[in-house]
This record gives sequence, C-alpha cells and structure tokens, in this order.
Amino acid sequence: MFDAEEFISEAVETLKQQIDGIAIIACSGGVDSAVAAVLAHQAVGGLLHCVYVDTGFMRKGETEQVEAMFAAHGIELTTVHAADRYFAALEGVTEPEAKRKVIGELFIRVFEDEQVKVDAKYLVQGTIAPDWIESGGGVRDTIKSHHNVGGLPEDMTLAVVEPLRELYKDEVRELARALGISVAERQPFPGPGLAVRTLGDLTPDRVGVVRECCAIVEEEFEAAAERGEMELPWQYYAALLPVRSVGVHGDVRAYGETIVVRAVRSMDGMSARYSEIPHSILQKVSTRITNACKGSVNRVVYDITHKPPGTIEWE
Ligand code: XMP
Repeated sequence: MFDAEEFISEAVETLKQQIDGIAIIACSGGVDSAVAAVLAHQAVGGLLHCVYVDTGFMRKGETEQVEAMFAAHGIELTTVHAADRYFAALEGVTEPEAKRKVIGELFIRVFEDEQVKVDAKYLVQGTIAPDWIESGGGVRDTIKSHHNVGGLPEDMTLAVVEPLRELYKDEVRELARALGISVAERQPFPGPGLAVRTLGDLTPDRVGVVRECCAIVEEEFEAAAERGEMELPWQYYAALLPVRSVGVHGDVRAYGETIVVRAVRSMDGMSARYSEIPHSILQKVSTRITNACKGSVNRVVYDITHKPPGTIEWE
C-alpha cells in the first residue's frame, strides 16, 4: 500500500542530500513536474529555479493556470516564450519519433540557456515509471520516446535528479492531493503537448484548431459527467489527422480536415479501454467542433481502439 506522507518525507530527505547547488526544473503544468517541483522546493527552497516553457503546444488557458498554481504555493516561476523556436525547429518534421526527438532536444537547449543564466548544476525532472519503461529500457522495444527521456542529448551537462522515477500515475496523483496541488484531479497530458495531437504539418493554425477542439471535448465531457450523464474518462482529447475528406458546406463542396475524439479508461496509462460515450454527447461535440472550425474541419470521428493494440495518444 502506497503511503504518500511517508514517500514525501523520504523524498525530501533524499533530495536534500542529492542537491548541493543550484537546480532547475521544467514545469510543464502537468501533475508529474508540479509534484517534483513542490518536493524539491520543500527540500532546497531558493536553490530551485522553476522554469515554464511556453512551447506553443499548451492547452487553452494553460500558461495562466500554471502561473497561478505556482503563485499559490509561493514558488517563483520563470516563463520562457519559445513558440517561435519550436515551430521553426519542427518545420517539415511529421514522423512521430523524429518530432519527439526534436521537441525533447529543443526543450533541453532552452533549459541550457536558463542553466547558464542561473549557473545550475542539477536538472530535476518529473519522470515516472511508464515514461522510461515505454522508452525502450532493457529488453523492451521502443513504443514511443517520451518527452523527458528520449530527447535527452548525449552532451547534456546537468546532473539529472528524478524523485518520481519508480512511481505510477495514480501514486503521483495521491502525492499531489497530499501536497495540496490543484492540478491533482486534472487528466494526464503528454510532455510534447498538442504537437503529438497534430498529425501532419505542425503550423500555428493547425495547432490552434487542436487547442480549440481539445477545449470543446473537455468542456462537454466534464459538463455531461457533472450532470450524471456519463462517467468522466481517465483521459479525453481531440487530435487532428492528416486526412482530408469531401464534405458540404452550405451548398458548396468542402475538402476539409478530420478531427478524431479519443477517450479512455485506465489505471496508470499502461493499458486502456476506450470509453463508451453516449451518442448524444458525441454528437454535441461533433457539432460544436465543425461550427468552431468552419472552413478547416468538416468531419469528426470517434476512436474505439483499446490499448493495446493502440496507444492512448496517436503519436
Ligand atoms: P501512450 O500514448 O503511450 O500514453 O499510450 C500513455 C500516457 O502517457 C502520456 N504520454 C506522455 N507523458 N511524456 C509524458 O510525460 C510524453 O512524451 C508522453 N507521451 C504520452 C499519454 O498522454 C498517456 O496519458
């Protein structure tokens, strides 16, 4: 049985011993990095510099929420606006593994700039067990390179500290509740963000469509769950596919893009069952998406694949 209080006091003690100089941490807004940041801040206080990179792949309103959450814990946060660098680095990159490598590497480069500014020796990361298990540790095949593992370049000069390395998602959520972190009940979100939900060309416009559609899925599913019409899935989102199809808009032929809605039940992300969402709710989502994205999206589909054989994200 996982004991959150015991884990917290042991982790804080270990971090005090591991970190004897300036440390930086990448705060994505996700529960993993938030828990790692609060633990490290409890251990070394002002030695820890928390950096939030706005990659251009965050969800709607996310930057503001992350800033508010750190302010509530009395932790200083530096926001780096790096969207232009990300879009430039990813121009023409569509293959999922190549995309993840570019994103992971740029993520570290952006931190190296911050590291130089504060003269950091340590990089604290919120890596959890599924991140490195699925990134091809030991005899396992690489399924996908997770953001905080696969992208690490070999010449990286910071010593990596990973206090959550042995934990699974449900345990991290328990820690978040014990630490009073407000993202505790939020659904998981991948490190590379909306970039892995935008299949095909990564442009600000296409990512903007995904951002809007993810917000619609979240709003509708959360409202329906609140009304007792469905169970809230473990994870639920929209992705933009590199597929065009023929539709009709007014009386005119349209040749638009496709949004897939995905929702799954899972314990820890290692396996998942697709969620059976009532058709009336799916229909509402579909109508809202095609209205909000007139001229770009003319078809919405629902993914009914379990993991395995699918994964939760599409890339
Ligand atoms: P998959 O798509 O591999 O995802 O079935 C399992 C869970 O992990 C999330 N995910 C990531 N989390 N960095 C992360 O921290 C990543 O690069 C990453 N890719 C996927 C995914 O959203 C799901 O919850």
